[in-house]
Amino acid sequence: MVSKNVETLINKQIAGEQYAAQYYLAMSAWFEAQDLEGLANYFRVQSKEELMHADKMFDYLNDVGGKVILEAIPAPPGDFADALEIFEKALAHEKEVTQNIFNIVKVATEENDFATTSFLQWFVNEQVEEEATASQHVSKIKMVKDNPSALYLFDQELGKRVLNTAQ
Ligand code: FEO
Repeated sequence: MVSKNVETLINKQIAGEQYAAQYYLAMSAWFEAQDLEGLANYFRVQSKEELMHADKMFDYLNDVGGKVILEAIPAPPGDFADALEIFEKALAHEKEVTQNIFNIVKVATEENDFATTSFLQWFVNEQVEEEATASQHVSKIKMVKDNPSALYLFDQELGKRVLNTAQ
């Protein structure tokens, strides 16, 4: 059984993951509008991954006898200045998610809630990867953004991403 505190934080994080899905879907839409289909694909897949993260937390909370309470998800931004802004915002957002996950781990640890700390270890590892990838993308988009042929190749590369449902 989880404490009320941990239950509230996990519910907040379910909403956070769902918001991330909306945020990345808005980024995908922006790239679609620019005809950068590969980058649009990348963020569409990322959006679906975030929904899987929310589902994981949803299932966990049910498994440990917590009550899932869904929140309203705020609207994501409707527009972006350019591709660099999107990649920088994606990185900043992942850093924020990492801090939120760390905070739940901290509270669960203080409460000797070993089930939750063990469950969240997957998310801690996932955030390391997500931040590393987002950071590499910021560096790459800086390299290619003013070079159409390089941007084309980057778009092709990210167009190959498929959703890993085995997570
Ligand atoms: Fe679910 Fe990108 O963190």
